[in-house]
Amino acid sequence: MKPIKVGLLGLGTVGTGVVRIIEGHQEDLQRQIGSPIEVAQILVQNKSKSRDVAVDSDKLTESPWDIINNPEIDVIVEVMGGVEETKEYLLSALNQGKHIVTANKDLMAIHGPEILLKAAENGCDVFYEASVAGGIPIIRALVEGFSSDRITKIMGIVNGTTNYILSKMSQEGAAYAEVLKEAQDLGYAEADPTSDVEGLDAARKMTILSTLGFHANVSLGDVNAKGISEVSKEDILYGKKLGYEVKLLGIAENHDGHIAVSVQPTMVKNSHPLSSVNGVFNAVYIYGEAVGETMFYGPGAGGLPTATSIVADLVAVVRNLKLGVNGRTALAPYKEKKLKTDEQ
Ligand code: NDP
Ligand code: HSE
Repeated sequence: MKPIKVGLLGLGTVGTGVVRIIEGHQEDLQRQIGSPIEVAQILVQNKSKSRDVAVDSDKLTESPWDIINNPEIDVIVEVMGGVEETKEYLLSALNQGKHIVTANKDLMAIHGPEILLKAAENGCDVFYEASVAGGIPIIRALVEGFSSDRITKIMGIVNGTTNYILSKMSQEGAAYAEVLKEAQDLGYAEADPTSDVEGLDAARKMTILSTLGFHANVSLGDVNAKGISEVSKEDILYGKKLGYEVKLLGIAENHDGHIAVSVQPTMVKNSHPLSSVNGVFNAVYIYGEAVGETMFYGPGAGGLPTATSIVADLVAVVRNLKLGVNGRTALAPYKEKKLKTDEQ
């Protein structure tokens, strides 16, 4: 049976999780998709760095082009981060007919439409489930699970690092800088953790969710974002005394086509389920006209939970390959672009 060959861009927290799941779940995956999955090549910055997972050193490269130009690679899994350069790599890979799975919300929040359009032009899949809420399959829930409904509101905790920090400050009286360092050591934080603590990471995720949920052209600049860097231990303890927990909430509302998206620290009454979402966990409420209120809960960051979403996307790509429908089930954000996909 011919293996599906994967080119992995990045072998950090998430990339390591991807290798572990592909190796550890190989038989189960093969049973589902009928082919073995092989991580054929891996991009890293530094080949001589010690790794948390055993990989054949011959597979490591420091040049993305070795992977992108490799005709044997079927799917690129992008878990290196970065925006402009990474976009060029992915567009080039799509031009060569390679499918993409990415965890990169920075990229998808800004260049998602361009990348999805290029994918459609080339009959390729681009899946990005891991870009929002780590191990919670929230994008599929929104796009597929609620395709029959009109989404009116999306609200929740979509950043694991800040929730980890706020929870530890509330429960243990821990100091902000100390718990931020812990979140970094655990691999939850972004390469530049300013994105987490200033609310930009959550804003990127809310851009993706509101774009998909409301079928609208929401851009990152439309999101009014404030982070937690100015939240003091005193704010948290004072809130607690009054029966509230401080949480960084993303809120996106669609009132008859008028869309408002924001991210801000919020006092959440301790009778509300979001107040007891702690640590690296995320929780997202989706409200639909017909379904009413739904809530999704799970680990929002970390190597294995995030890799779960990535490998599930990989399974989706392979299923599409078997059916010959790649590029036709893309999670395209806008109706116009979806129509264009359908015409091709
Ligand atoms: P890490 O910093 O742990 O890993 C990044 C990896 O990419 C490293 O292996 C690094 O190489 C490699 N890399 C980075 N830049 C380059 C480059 N220019 N050329 C070659 N190799 C490069 O990041 P994470 O695994 O934490 O995150 C990866 C992506 O996943 C990001 O987009 C992030 O936003 C997203 N994400 C992360 C989550 C998490 O919980 N960490 C959850 C959801 C999404 P080397 O090892 O040699 O330094
Ligand atoms: N830094 C991000 C977070 C990773 O803490 O939520 C998951 O997207």
